Amino acid sequence: MNTLMTRKSATLALAGSLAVALALSAAAPPAGAQTEEETQRGLERYRQMLREDPWSNPALLDADRGELLWTTAAGPRNATLEDCDLGLGPGIVDGAFARLPRYFEDAGRVMDVETRILWCMRELQGVDVAAYVAKPHPSGGQPVKDVGAIATWIANRSEGEAFAPALDDAAGRRTVAMGEALFNRRSGPFDFSCATCHSATGQRIRLQELPHLSQPEEARVVVGEWPAYRVSSTHVMTMQHRMYDCYWQMRMPQLEMGSEASVALIAYLVDKAAGGDVAAPGIKR
Ligand code: HEC
Repeated sequence: MNTLMTRKSATLALAGSLAVALALSAAAPPAGAQTEEETQRGLERYRQMLREDPWSNPALLDADRGELLWTTAAGPRNATLEDCDLGLGPGIVDGAFARLPRYFEDAGRVMDVETRILWCMRELQGVDVAAYVAKPHPSGGQPVKDVGAIATWIANRSEGEAFAPALDDAAGRRTVAMGEALFNRRSGPFDFSCATCHSATGQRIRLQELPHLSQPEEARVVVGEWPAYRVSSTHVMTMQHRMYDCYWQMRMPQLEMGSEASVALIAYLVDKAAGGDVAAPGIKR
């Protein structure tokens, strides 16, 4: 009985000190914990290291996967994507990304790289692309999906070339104008437009710098880095995914991959970035 009592009070004492320890840990971070600013600085160091050795960019593995997907027969027609016309003629990949988005006669509309890949998967391979469109982007930690991997490879094959999107025809100009209208249009429950966050220099959310995307000088630097390896979510993010995510931040309805609105926003951004270099895949936060 005596022993039991002692044991019980020892347990109580232990529980007591645990409670104190927990209370303390709630009040102050344990020794050695990082502040958010230190974490950001650590991530910036990591990004810097990745940039200094371009071959260490994990997105290159996705680009390799994309190339393999392009050259491997698949879908109901058991065909490869090698005859896909990215605008410079069937099968020509080098330099094609730098000329996108553009109007495609066969599809009767302007397309960015991801929309075009989807189109080729459907037309050449007979793939039912509805499943992609329903869930087109990876969640954090998951690798970029197939279309994004292929887009990463195609973009990389224009690396170092200046953006010269073929948007000077009537369809191209109409698409850019629609993108500009969407960029500046306030909407959704927060009444945000893209311009609310992206039309001033030096604007930031917490430590996150917001590029001034309607200004060519900044657009030329950041737009050509997409698709990019995003360090904080450890996967490649494509431009369609970036548009989807910013629309989500605005609490707008889900932006459909390949939709006219998504292509128009991308066409507007790339038009602003014309003359800047393709530097994909880039490294982002
Ligand atoms: C509420 C503020 C907000 C709104 C509104 C917003 N964005 Fe963003 N945007 C961000 C933030 C924050 C980032 C950086 C995200 C990150 O790296 O995690 C970002 C990043 C981007 C980038 C990548 C920039 C880079 O560094 O390469 C592009 C492109 C972009 N946004 C376009 C848009 C477009 C187009 C719209 C409208 C459809 C839009 N954004 C609306 C906050 C916003």
